[in-house]
Amino acid sequence: MKKIIDKIKNLKEKKNAIILAHSYQNIEIDTVADFVGDSLYLSQQAQKTNADIIIFAGVYFMAQTAKIISPEKKVILPNINAGCLMADMIDHKQMINFKNSHPNIPIVCYINSTAEVKAECDICCTSSNALEIVKSLNSGKVLFLPDANLGKWVENKLNNVEVITYNGNCPVHNNINIDDIQNARKQHPNAQILIHPECKPEVSSLGDYVGSTSGIINYVKNSQASQFVIVTEKGVYDRLKRDYPDKEFFLIRNNMICDSMKLTSLEEILDALENETNEIHLDEKIRKASFNCIERMLKVSK
Ligand code: 13P
Ligand code: SF4
Repeated sequence: MKKIIDKIKNLKEKKNAIILAHSYQNIEIDTVADFVGDSLYLSQQAQKTNADIIIFAGVYFMAQTAKIISPEKKVILPNINAGCLMADMIDHKQMINFKNSHPNIPIVCYINSTAEVKAECDICCTSSNALEIVKSLNSGKVLFLPDANLGKWVENKLNNVEVITYNGNCPVHNNINIDDIQNARKQHPNAQILIHPECKPEVSSLGDYVGSTSGIINYVKNSQASQFVIVTEKGVYDRLKRDYPDKEFFLIRNNMICDSMKLTSLEEILDALENETNEIHLDEKIRKASFNCIERMLKVSK
């Protein structure tokens, strides 16, 4: 493994490339990554970087977002089959139907969506800034897509905003039920339960903390507690176990795995750097329209 890691590091330097990795990636990806984090943090890095090439160890919508923000850079997704099941739940036509059935209401688009969908929305959000973004609109009603769970969690938190949601979800998180949390409480009565807001709102409401992948990691960092139940994808649990060996972690279910996030390997990253294949391309009109949606978010969430 050392050989391949060294080759990747050398090529990165030679080609002025950076590697952005989401916290759900296979943990060995961190050995070559320049930045590891949640979707907001990674899109901020894509905006700031002076690199010529961005290798995105994540899923398609993340690499596409990097390209929308940094069109002059070469953005590469090492495994082109790494999609997002939630982003695939809404296409352009479904988006237009949703919009037309609720006219004149601002539309918030979760970053887990395609550029074509973002291009039709007013403002983007991620799981770490969804509350802030919806609040920033100062509207009594908003449309929210594609994640119904995140949208309803925001509505419950804000009290004074009606959030009309599209019927999408992340199957990995949507699988978790109230029973899972209640059982975890019984089995680990001293543990803090940390939940990603892509879970059903009735599940999130039972957590000690609800937040994005980076939010969960930061919560552990700042907490005095010594036991935690992790209610998100296994990559977060793996990194917490690595970084906090004195604390104890329990993954809510063994099957908390996003298959797409696990597709990318070190070999594919090396191949991406050597051959520069799997580059992300975008129609310029769609790029500009989706850029507006993301840029508005980045202005609110600095
Ligand atoms: P984060 O915003 O926490 O990175 O979440 C992205 C994601 O796809 C969660 O399933
Ligand atoms: Fe998409 Fe769910 Fe995988 Fe996140 S965990 S990338 S929302 S399928």
